[in-house]
Amino acid sequence: MHYFKYRGKELYCEGVKVSSIAVKFGTPVYVYSKRTILEHFQKIDKAFKKISPLICYSIKANSNLAILKILVQVGAGLDIVSGGELYRAREVKCSSKKIVYASVGKTEDEIRAAIKYGILLFNVESFPELSRINKVARELRKKVDVALRVNPDVEPKTHKYIITGKKETKFGMDIDTVRDIFLKRDDFRYLDVCGIHIHIGSQITQSAPFIKAIKKIKTLIGDLAKKGVDLKYFNIGGGLGIVYDDETPQTAEVFAKAVLPMLKDSSLSTILEPGRFIVGNAGIVVTKVSYIKDTPSKNFIIVDAGMNDLLRPSLYEAYHKIIPVTQNTKHKTRNTKKSDVVGPICESGDFLGKDRYLNVEEDDYLAVLGAGAYGFSMSSNYNSRPRAVEVLVDGNNVHCIRKREAYSDLIKGERIVS
Ligand code: LLP
Repeated sequence: MHYFKYRGKELYCEGVKVSSIAVKFGTPVYVYSKRTILEHFQKIDKAFKKISPLICYSIKANSNLAILKILVQVGAGLDIVSGGELYRAREVKCSSKKIVYASVGKTEDEIRAAIKYGILLFNVESFPELSRINKVARELRKKVDVALRVNPDVEPKTHKYIITGKKETKFGMDIDTVRDIFLKRDDFRYLDVCGIHIHIGSQITQSAPFIKAIKKIKTLIGDLAKKGVDLKYFNIGGGLGIVYDDETPQTAEVFAKAVLPMLKDSSLSTILEPGRFIVGNAGIVVTKVSYIKDTPSKNFIIVDAGMNDLLRPSLYEAYHKIIPVTQNTKHKTRNTKKSDVVGPICESGDFLGKDRYLNVEEDDYLAVLGAGAYGFSMSSNYNSRPRAVEVLVDGNNVHCIRKREAYSDLIKGERIVS
């Protein structure tokens, strides 16, 4: 469910005509719907109400401060993976006791900053990291809560680059290692090793892999309890899939129904880390057709957004629906031509969509859907292209939440050495 809908021939975001946004702010422009973000957050919140979990929105999906603030204001916590994300969490005044911190490569400085801020929990991904957090905590004379990230070795059936819960990936620790650490947890004097974390991958459309992973963890928790190791937190991660094309992902309700029976009789506090589910379908990129280039072997619609703006198609061959911002009946022939929608970047991998049928001509606007998660947050300045402007629609109002970069931003911090 989202609030990007046609009224007549015009695409609207909530109460605002998308073409008017493109005219006012230029293209490419990221457009987000506040109502969609809130409704998606509430869907998870409601589905899991019985156990009132801490829902830590995963900042990496879309880290714009305006979006973080919307979620923090309705009670969300934040899942961070870097010092930069901690900085953002602080900027939106997220309560420190609602911040959890994963990542396989936390530096000492990042660990120190997070301890000083008093975050709820580190999700620890290796033994050396555990020792390092203990060392920093000792220096700061603070006792720190940590959860151990288990790699449960389950197949989440998603793109190979976004699987994180199989044993050949760099994430988490195997169950036996985790069990051993729990049994020796008193060796870490400055740590309370009191939680378990899993995150098995992203864009997972079925509940089965989650259930499989949670079952493994329940067995581990049971074993540990028998040995007198009691825990406080069970963080089941994020990963809920959304609709990009014709997927039929589980709803938050169905997901909750499947996993709640395994969580509700436990005394542990549950943490969730959704990212894509909340913002994925709450954002689009609007781009303008620069040229139509038909060649004897292939037809191209060349647009002004490229892989630097939206990397997902290039990196994962991800499918994003591309639709006209104004449905056009004037030119009746173009939509019979199968075309690739490509950007201006000097790479053959720079495409937003392949083999599409679109009734467009030069200067028409196109909307790339499902761009709210891992869209702007993965964008870059490749080919020295300033990053796009981001706007948030709230009912009939449009707010610029990040201005378009200028050429001067591109060279910020650079220095010519003579
Ligand atoms: N928790 C942890 C520890 C994570 O690593 C992630 C995402 C999440 C939560 C949120 O996952 P979500 O609910 O959004 O699936 N760039 C890729 C996705 C990478 C996901 C990385 N980790 C893409 O565009 O598909």
